[in-house]
Amino acid sequence: MAILKIARMGHPILAVRAQEVTDPAASKIHRLIDDMIETLIDADGAGLAAPQVYTSLRVIVFRAPGADEDPPEAKTPLTVLINPTMEVLAPETAGAWEGCLSLAGLRGFVERPQHIRYRGLNRDGRTIEREAKGFHARVFQHEFDHLEGILYPQRMTDIKKFIFETEAKHWQKPPP
Ligand code: NI
Repeated sequence: MAILKIARMGHPILAVRAQEVTDPAASKIHRLIDDMIETLIDADGAGLAAPQVYTSLRVIVFRAPGADEDPPEAKTPLTVLINPTMEVLAPETAGAWEGCLSLAGLRGFVERPQHIRYRGLNRDGRTIEREAKGFHARVFQHEFDHLEGILYPQRMTDIKKFIFETEAKHWQKPPP
């Protein structure tokens, strides 16, 4: 296992569509997943996509621990998805502050659909299919966007809400 270097906004690998994984059982894919998990935990992040560690493949890892009172769809333990897909189940959006390991120190207020379904393969090659709401839906969509070459500022509708996290204290709804 290894802690990987994280690509920062401006590196071209973050701006292109990542390629499908053709052999999810390959040892190099399992090594990539192990290293991504170690990197995510070391950085104390919510999610990480393979392009963020300079690998243009469709692999994401994410977690949404949530609180006891949160409904089951709104939280998830650490999840690995290979070749994920998604569909929006309800068009209503909600806004929340997001951060990204590729934009360290920054926060942005992003509107996203709040009820989605996603599918993908886990590291054992089994299909995972889940409905997700709340932060769980948000973190999946953020990571899925990385696979499409999209960073969260491209989703923002009010650029005034693109701030340094040290200034979050001035906002009514501070970042989590
Ligand atoms: Ni990100």
